[in-house]
Amino acid sequence: MSARPVLVTCGLPYTNGPCHLGHLRTYVPADFYVRYLRRTGETVVFVCGSDNHGTPVVVSAEDAGISPRALSEQYHAHFDQTFHRMGVIFDHFGMTDDPTNHQRTRSIVEHLTENGYVYSKVIQQSFCTKCQRFLPDRYVEGICPHCGTPARGDECDQGCGKHLEPGEIKEPSCTVCGTRAESRDQEHYFFRLSGFKEFLLDHLDTLSGTLNAKNYALGWVKDELHDWCITRTLDWGVKFPGRDDLVVYVWVDAPIGYISFTEEWAENHGRSWKEFWCGENTKVTHFIGGDIIYHHCIFWPALLKGAGYGVPHAVIASGMLKVDDHKFSKSRGYVVWTNDDYLDKGLPSDYLRYYLLAYTSHTKELNFSWKMFQERINNELVNTLGNFAYRTLFFAHKEFGGIPDVPVNAGIISEIEKTLSLVDISMKDYEFKTAIDGMMTLAAYGNNYIQTSSPWKLIKTDRNAAAQVVKDCIVLVRALTLLFEPVIPRKSQELWEMLGNSDPVSGHHLNEALTDTAEGPLPAPRPVFSKLEDDFIGEMDKLLAHRVREAGKKVVKTETIPFDEFCKLDIRTGIVISAEKVPKSGKLLKLRVDVGGEIRQVVAGMAQFYTPDEMTGKQVVIVVNLQPAKIFGIESNGMILAAGESASLLRPEKDVPPGTKIR
Ligand code: 2FM
Ligand code: ZN
Repeated sequence: MSARPVLVTCGLPYTNGPCHLGHLRTYVPADFYVRYLRRTGETVVFVCGSDNHGTPVVVSAEDAGISPRALSEQYHAHFDQTFHRMGVIFDHFGMTDDPTNHQRTRSIVEHLTENGYVYSKVIQQSFCTKCQRFLPDRYVEGICPHCGTPARGDECDQGCGKHLEPGEIKEPSCTVCGTRAESRDQEHYFFRLSGFKEFLLDHLDTLSGTLNAKNYALGWVKDELHDWCITRTLDWGVKFPGRDDLVVYVWVDAPIGYISFTEEWAENHGRSWKEFWCGENTKVTHFIGGDIIYHHCIFWPALLKGAGYGVPHAVIASGMLKVDDHKFSKSRGYVVWTNDDYLDKGLPSDYLRYYLLAYTSHTKELNFSWKMFQERINNELVNTLGNFAYRTLFFAHKEFGGIPDVPVNAGIISEIEKTLSLVDISMKDYEFKTAIDGMMTLAAYGNNYIQTSSPWKLIKTDRNAAAQVVKDCIVLVRALTLLFEPVIPRKSQELWEMLGNSDPVSGHHLNEALTDTAEGPLPAPRPVFSKLEDDFIGEMDKLLAHRVREAGKKVVKTETIPFDEFCKLDIRTGIVISAEKVPKSGKLLKLRVDVGGEIRQVVAGMAQFYTPDEMTGKQVVIVVNLQPAKIFGIESNGMILAAGESASLLRPEKDVPPGTKIR
């Protein structure tokens, strides 16, 4: 038991679109973790809320023709309901636009200012002359200055994932009207992040959680830390203290929401939020998506430190999500909507919880396909756990009317003890899959035990021996029910009731799995898990394929350009003369390309897919008249064309000399 109560939070969903599998990949493990801690006697408060501010919400509200507040209320209710449907139960689910968060944000900004961590500076900001407005964050798009990939104003969302400061993006254009943006001076406020290097190195050294979070952040802190612009020219958000024309950047007031939601919870429960957020050794544990590690491991702890708060104890970051082996993408149709595609089809929330938790380690890539989902559920939940529980309960009810009056075999308790210990070690390491595999191994052990002991045969010759097997199996089923509660809470409750209980299984300590059960009657059981049929899975697969096809058509439709625009592109063949990795970039290669009598230096994001040796001597297709861009400080004069997520190079089918124009 820890001295401090644990506070677990989940990254806040923006109120600009419905819940999907990408959200659940973070929320389900967080809920699992909280339930597990509670089963082992920890006091845990679990808070979350919706992220209402920032350009993602403003842009969507403009599209919907309603106010950002109205849109936020709609999606806030949607997320709240959806999380309940998925069995993800927060103690409090707040809104960042509610007064508590406005007050807490202003107070923190004021403290930062008093402590000398905020300063003002005139910067060059993208401005759209047609819309007559400054273009914050998602109102502007262009090219990432770090990796050369098309990016949105605040983040290189399709390339290197880096946070982009206002004015940093190359070739900026307005996302509303497409006009090329110009730069204009404007006064903004900055958070002195660069002054926190030493603190962050120490903080990250002791930070608990998953290694992907810690290591990614350490790489950044060791490299360079830039001050963060913490104001935006928007009407929607928390007003910056003393400036009616500026709001606080959403990435300031969103994490502060974690504190505000704790305050709201504490207020309702007669507790103090300070016991979670102030002083040393706090137990604040953040579950986040892998794309927002920078914000939670660098910016957020520095902000807390600067304002005089305690810093997070752990950050647990989930790995990437794929749908049908393609990068999760709403616009390309590789998405599973929680309600429309799953819950509304009558599928049990627990099946999806199990899949998300048991498919792979939390930090690794998780692929969702309907076929794989069917396979895992049918083999593991239905055939292993479900089969064992049903066979046990059925036979106990039929032959003994309930739990036989014999003490459990000591070997069974020691088997359960081994599982409990493996699960506990794994949970402390945030290795959720290993923990669940351990539980399923115990179910397989039970299945094997009942099969090899065959009490249905034994009973014909030795009723006492059959009673012993049944008792042992009942104790195993009860242990499995307690163990699996954090994973599949609803199915576990059903099993718990079939074991003759009427109270919530979630009220019991996991150690009860190690005690014998009293004899007593059992109700007639029914199978708790049912098979996912081929026809149904086939239909779901078709639906996904249809969505991907439709999305493909839309992409083609929205991206058409007039022929004379196309003619402006000068695309030629070339031969790669030399190639080398760009140090520290991870994804970039620096190439020298013969484009017919001229050698071009090009920086291309293909180091993950081609080695420098493979690239050397290759024929490529290259756009030669793009404006030069500096990528990772290296000038790039052209763009190599490649297809798809694996950057498969385009090449002419027949040999042509370098410099041949593509027409
Ligand atoms: O990336 C996102 O979806 C953000 N809405 C997450 C915010 S998490 C926290 F910091 F508030
Ligand atoms: Zn980038």
